[in-house]
Amino acid sequence: MQSSHVPHHIAIVMDGNGRWANKRFMPRIAGHKQGVESLKRCAKACDARGVRVLTVFAFSSENWKRPTEEVTGLMDLFAMALAREVQQLKADGVQLRFVGERQGLSARVLKGIEQSEADTAANTRLVLNVCFNYGGRWDIVHAAAKLAGSGQPVNEQTLSSAMSLAHVPDPDLVIRTGGELRISNFLLWQSAYSEFEFVDTLWPDFDEIALDAAIASYSSRERRFGKTSEQIKPNAPAGAEG
Ligand code: FPP
Repeated sequence: MQSSHVPHHIAIVMDGNGRWANKRFMPRIAGHKQGVESLKRCAKACDARGVRVLTVFAFSSENWKRPTEEVTGLMDLFAMALAREVQQLKADGVQLRFVGERQGLSARVLKGIEQSEADTAANTRLVLNVCFNYGGRWDIVHAAAKLAGSGQPVNEQTLSSAMSLAHVPDPDLVIRTGGELRISNFLLWQSAYSEFEFVDTLWPDFDEIALDAAIASYSSRERRFGKTSEQIKPNAPAGAEG
């Protein structure tokens, strides 16, 4: 695949862990555990294909409404996965960034987040943004509140730079696994011009073949960013842009 056709930034709503477990008569947390394995595989595959930023929706602002047992299980899983994987991530050149509201997280999870970010901060190969206690509306409100107190003018540029993914370009491709056709308060601001791919595959089953299919679909599309097809052709005459 030509590298120009590989998205620089892929963002993923990792949906379907619960159904993956249900189908196997296993507790939902078993699906989330398998989801961590799928994330590791996906990060490796993204790196191998030249993707430079991967952003995943790991825990939404709304996920607190799930049964206490599942929320506690997820928090334990995050803390354990971070402690277990951080050295490998460091060795693989992955820079881990957590995006979302930190207030309200347990001391154990916070420590894992801060430690793993510090341990991988110098890495440059792949940025892995983990959206955790995150919501797209939260992100916009949070950025607006930051700007309001700063005396800066409010425009697209200043708002973008106050948002939680200001350290990376907007996602080129947003994938949602698990068959649902909605965005569920994911990167509402940043996905304005992203290409979308909705796949039925449950997240734990999302493998290299599924990733390649999503990238192939992305690479077959024409991204116009509001312009016409003629304007974005490589040899379009000067002044053709409106
Ligand atoms: C959605 O599936 C998935 C989640 C709410 C959790 C996703 C988390 C991981 C894959 C673990 C990531 C780990 C780290 C350390 C970053 P669902 O439960 O809504 O599935 P369902 O729609 O089938 O019920």
